[in-house]
Amino acid sequence: MSKKPVIVFEGIEGSGKSHHILQVTKFLKKNKIDYIKLREPGGNLNSEKIRKLILNKNSNFNKNTDLLLYMAARSENIQLLRKHYKKKIILIDRFVDSTIAYQHYGFGVNLKLINLINNYLLKNFKINFTFLNIVNKKNMISRLKLRKSLNRYDKFNNRFYEKVQKGFLNLEKKNKKKYMIINSNLDIKHNQNKIIQTIKRLI
Ligand code: TMP
Repeated sequence: MSKKPVIVFEGIEGSGKSHHILQVTKFLKKNKIDYIKLREPGGNLNSEKIRKLILNKNSNFNKNTDLLLYMAARSENIQLLRKHYKKKIILIDRFVDSTIAYQHYGFGVNLKLINLINNYLLKNFKINFTFLNIVNKKNMISRLKLRKSLNRYDKFNNRFYEKVQKGFLNLEKKNKKKYMIINSNLDIKHNQNKIIQTIKRLI
């Protein structure tokens, strides 16, 4: 495996992915290891503008518009990702699996269309490893309650998030070697340790 891997963190709301990615960046900084980190939607200035538009509580785009906006945000990141591809460790907070899980499994958008656009944008840019964070309904609800403000995608019903999480798990099943499931209902320190040990192996 490349020593400058592309590592993605995926999972539904409240699954602890942002906490874990932060711990990984702390570990890399402490060890003076170069990396870049970005989130999707978002990342660079233009993508962050698109993020605001999609996630604004007052937006009510249809599912196809949402897909195209997420892809537009990705399109704005690709140049940056390519620049650092195989030169630096790349950490991404959500990426193509989120589009398949949310837009296809959650909203029923055509999978072929999603794959077509993703392949067009990504070309030879490949993900090396994905940490898939999962959470049960009870913990998801209680963690969302702790958030100071909720965006448009934090407010769907529980059934929707169940479908999305199942979608993520389907993707994991198809390519188990490239995924690690992090059960965020378990002890957070235990998970943190498991992730850091895996990162050490990957880089
Ligand atoms: P986050 O800050 O929790 O990552 O919020 C981003 C939201 O955007 C989250 O609900 C997942 C959603 N999303 C999609 O629906 N499709 C995508 O392709 C991406 C990257 C994110």
